[in-house]
Amino acid sequence: TKENKKVVIGFSQTGINDQWRKSMNKSMQLQADFHPEIELKILDGNDNVKKQIEDITQLINDKVDVLIISPVQSKPITPLVNKALLQDIPVLIVDRKIDGQNYTSYIGGDNYQVGINAANYIAALSSNKEKKILEIKGLKGSSPAAERHLGFSSTINTIPNLKITHTIQGNWEANSIKETLNNLLSKNNNVDYIFCHNDRMALGAWEVLKQHNLEHKVDIIGVDGLNGPNGGIQYVKDGILKATVYYPTGGNEAIKYAIDIVQGKKINKNNILETTIIDSRNADIMKNQFDKINQHQENLLAQQNKIKEQEETYASQSSMLKVLLAL
Ligand code: FRU
Repeated sequence: TKENKKVVIGFSQTGINDQWRKSMNKSMQLQADFHPEIELKILDGNDNVKKQIEDITQLINDKVDVLIISPVQSKPITPLVNKALLQDIPVLIVDRKIDGQNYTSYIGGDNYQVGINAANYIAALSSNKEKKILEIKGLKGSSPAAERHLGFSSTINTIPNLKITHTIQGNWEANSIKETLNNLLSKNNNVDYIFCHNDRMALGAWEVLKQHNLEHKVDIIGVDGLNGPNGGIQYVKDGILKATVYYPTGGNEAIKYAIDIVQGKKINKNNILETTIIDSRNADIMKNQFDKINQHQENLLAQQNKIKEQEETYASQSSMLKVLLAL
């Protein structure tokens, strides 16, 4: 019931336009639903820094108990975190980072490791032959793009037969890279691998490769590895991607930590989630695992609703009993 919802967790999400964000929100909501005393308020930043600044300002003015932020870009959001902390609102940063370490806790996948995993995977495939790589990067000024690039390029630079010959600056969405990639391939189609900072841009890259009849010649490695019909796992199964690096949303964990913070428990400053390569060898296994987890969560939720119903029935019966006993 409404009266019980005392603790408000405010979440400023970068945006809710893509499946990865939707899945993050869903796992947060699922986790929050296990705690009737929690109200989760998610604001949609529309992948726009200006909108996100408004959202965070609103959540601060609302005096939420915990503020969770996934910043569109690091720099412009950093001062707002400071502002919240000065008003004694704990701030949990998820997935994308701010500048510096002035926050309560961070939780997210290891983006540096994402880049390293992709590079090592390409190294294993290329078996010492000279190969050319194109790197397609995520939004400038967002930390996963910077860290994926750093992990990837620093590893590739230690492998003599591999070379990053081109990079394209994207913004996480397929449309941001298609034209540039098309122009590049029209001039020079000498590419063996594409490392794409996420699966949405990777799908866009594959569509452009197809127009150039290069989709069987170039192997694409993406990032995210979402389960479901338009996710990276399916793209791997369909042969669109050679592989994808699984990047967990951290949604469940963020809510768990937020609750820990509210309860005054001590949590680590930086909580880094592991990533792993998904390719044709383990795509089915991963899909089955994720399907099972989903099923399990749905079951728990159904049980929880049953318990809630029973509690309500009990409450109304016992108040009826009281009335009767008072007669
Ligand atoms: C979703 C997304 C993912 C990517 C992440 C990086 O909005 O673009 O595809 O891995 O953000 O923060």
